[in-house]
Amino acid sequence: MNKKVLILLLLFIPLLGLQAQAQWGDVNGDGNTDIIDALLIAQYYVGLDPQGFNPEAADVDADGQVTIVDALLIARYYVGLPVPTPVLTPTPTPTSEPEPAAYQKYSGYFLVGAAVDTNSYRDAHAGLLQKHFNSIVCENEMKWDALEPSEGNFNYSTADAMVNFAQANNMKVRGHCLVWHNQIPGWVFQNASKQVLLNRMKNHITNVMNHFRGKIYCWDVVNEAVTGNKSDGSDAGEDLSQVVSWGYRNSTWYQICGEDYILEAFRAARAADPQAKLFYNDYWNYLDGKRAMIISIIRKLQAENLIDGVGLQCHLNISPALESPNNQTVYQTVPNLEEEILEYASLGLEVEITELDISVYTRDYPSSDSSKWYRSETELLAAGIPDKQAARYKEFFDMFREHGNLITNVTFWGIADDNTWLSEFDSGRPDYPLLFDKSLQPKPAYYSVVDF
Ligand code: G3I
Repeated sequence: MNKKVLILLLLFIPLLGLQAQAQWGDVNGDGNTDIIDALLIAQYYVGLDPQGFNPEAADVDADGQVTIVDALLIARYYVGLPVPTPVLTPTPTPTSEPEPAAYQKYSGYFLVGAAVDTNSYRDAHAGLLQKHFNSIVCENEMKWDALEPSEGNFNYSTADAMVNFAQANNMKVRGHCLVWHNQIPGWVFQNASKQVLLNRMKNHITNVMNHFRGKIYCWDVVNEAVTGNKSDGSDAGEDLSQVVSWGYRNSTWYQICGEDYILEAFRAARAADPQAKLFYNDYWNYLDGKRAMIISIIRKLQAENLIDGVGLQCHLNISPALESPNNQTVYQTVPNLEEEILEYASLGLEVEITELDISVYTRDYPSSDSSKWYRSETELLAAGIPDKQAARYKEFFDMFREHGNLITNVTFWGIADDNTWLSEFDSGRPDYPLLFDKSLQPKPAYYSVVDF
């Protein structure tokens, strides 16, 4: 059948009852709907078996069969004659995956944040931050050693620049952190009686919160004040098998002030900026004993209306460390985390996920065993890690959305895999814990979080 015959015939074809159909008319799958497709249909119709023939695309009038009418409709379209619905434009093939802004997907649920450092908010990451996040936290730049390196000498220039960036981009800022046992300059504890230390602490909190008043919506006032004790009273650290009780961390703060420093810190913070939300921030909240200890502190703070929320750090691993039953990562399950969220919320507290990442290693992988290190994307892919990580992120975010009325912020501890504390901390062992890869491209983890 040649083109002229087709054109003559098509004028007499009834064109009613057409329905939209995917891949309309692109019978040979070359991306176009043209006369070749019409001729292939005609061949098929007369009993030939054309190569690469796609019957679904060939049934252009969607009547359940491939007939000469379908060929004629394509011919009519090809020569530019009007054809009734459907609109005769082949469905365009997407050239790349759509990448919705993560924070927009979560606009009905909670803020989506990222920890940023001195460089990562202004180099190539800036675009990624602007697109996907509506909250930031300084990874180190608001800690004591950064803001008050020597007594009374406050240095805000670095942190101010980061806050300015956030404000210019309509991002909220979490403040992290006022009182911690790490990243404290030596002078703070030097020749310090309890009263001297509390005065230094109050002065620091007051100065810092006044400086940022109105620009920071919440502060981690006290960070990581609880730990597990061994039978001899010393800190069990990460070895849960040694924990006999949970109590106050034996930090220099605690040694000099006892538990009072916590209450005093929150009192100073409330007085300095009554509008700011005040948080207690810690890790391993899924351990019942640790959480019970934290809750006992929270109740004391609540008695004076000094606390608004609790921050759950959530440095997670790719899977529970099942070979080590006393390992804290055993408890990193969705039900464990959900239980924490519900229990803290039941106390009337806001809940924020403050330092989320998912390491590609489990605790069963000693960092000294380099045969278990994934050094390249190729190795990661071979081990199926990106998909596994995506599935794990997805199950946590599915649960976060269910409790979107209780959670106010989910912050990742970093932006992309090129800059993560997990790679720095393990003497060179690379880790890949975030939603974007080292080239700042979205990973399966990203898609699993925004695909709902
Ligand atoms: O700034 C100095 C630099 O001058 C020096 O040359 C370099 C050499 O080591 O060190 C730099 O400081 C490092 C700092 O990060 C900034 O990069 C410190 O050594 C390093 O210890 C510090 O690590 C930070 C860590 O807290 C400190 O404990 C990580 O970046 C930061 O991600 C991490 O964050 C903590 C949260 O605040 C609380 N929860 C746990 C989380 C992860 O550990």
